[in-house]
Amino acid sequence: MDLQLPSGDQFMDATQATMCDTFQRDFLCCRRIGSLPWKDLAHQLTLQPLLALCILEKTVKHPVCKKYPPSLQYRRLFLSELIKKHECTGAEPLDDLYSALAEVLNSEETAVCYKSYCLPTGDLITLSENAAIISEGTTGLVTWEAALFLAEWAIEHNDIFNNRTILELGSGIGLTGLVICKSCYPKKYTFSDCHQKVLQQLKENIRLNGFKLEEEHSVTSEKPKTLLSVTDLDWESVTEHKLLKLDADLVIASDVVYDPDIVTSFTKILRKLFHYTKPGNGLEVLVASTIRNPETYRLFQKTLDDTGIRWQVLPDQKRNIFAYDRNCKVEILKLTLQV
Ligand SMILES: C[S@@+](CC[C@H](N)C(=O)[O-])C[C@H]1O[C@@H](n2cnc3c(N)ncnc32)[C@H](O)[C@@H]1O
Repeated sequence: MDLQLPSGDQFMDATQATMCDTFQRDFLCCRRIGSLPWKDLAHQLTLQPLLALCILEKTVKHPVCKKYPPSLQYRRLFLSELIKKHECTGAEPLDDLYSALAEVLNSEETAVCYKSYCLPTGDLITLSENAAIISEGTTGLVTWEAALFLAEWAIEHNDIFNNRTILELGSGIGLTGLVICKSCYPKKYTFSDCHQKVLQQLKENIRLNGFKLEEEHSVTSEKPKTLLSVTDLDWESVTEHKLLKLDADLVIASDVVYDPDIVTSFTKILRKLFHYTKPGNGLEVLVASTIRNPETYRLFQKTLDDTGIRWQVLPDQKRNIFAYDRNCKVEILKLTLQV
């Protein structure tokens, strides 16, 4: 799914073309409407009112949006704002904008919607996500900022993930893992979670992005670069046998340190992992966390200290690739066993 400028955009200058790309990136991953650069757009529209049509083509009318649409409410809010900004220029009304809004208003909302994240290569990762941040009793059916942060970090530190046997804990619906599998070519990548609906949506998202699970490859087919699997893994009850079988040399997790109960449960699996992993495989663990409540975060660090797990904060060396709220602080901890 390559992102190409629609034809007929010769009327735009470079600033306007970049603006169209920014709107496309933000729209496809449903960035909060208020965070889009509307003010800059309003200015550019006074110079070139037809820019609104280009943005329409690159967002609501884009083939990716047609096939994997963001929520209806998101599309409605987006179009209403675009129309408002165009109307403010006093230019001739553009029928296409109103008919696109009418089409959205006449459609029915579905529980599941899609978000598509643009990679630097131009490839997209498309995920089926829930519209509400908590649904079906879990936080796992949406992509959280720490997942995007860790994915950006992985793209920049490709070598750390390349050819590794990776286990992801609390994968949710799969953004980080899919970015790593597309960009870093690990040897094996095991996604895991404990919530049945999350696991089901995760598998769908893996297939949606053109990957097959390990068991879906026929014996005759060519061996893929990365073997992908999904497993039901509860941090509280996972067995030694299961962890030994996974034989991971890199374990990653994002946004799994958000309340004291989960800290206790998550530290339990870390202790088991360090304890059960085959000696000499040099296990490394990376945990990306949004620091919403510094007390909970400190509790996590203290629990690690008490457990004999060493932690260090990794430097935030990465490019901003995805569109998300960067006001909240995200940090990656690298964990190793104290010797
Ligand atoms: C806030 S979500 C983060 C999802 C994803 N990593 C992200 O950053 O977008 C936390 C995830 O941890 C999972 N989780 C919570 N407790 C768990 C446990 N005891 N065992 C396994 N997974 C758990 C939830 O099901 C959920 O998918």
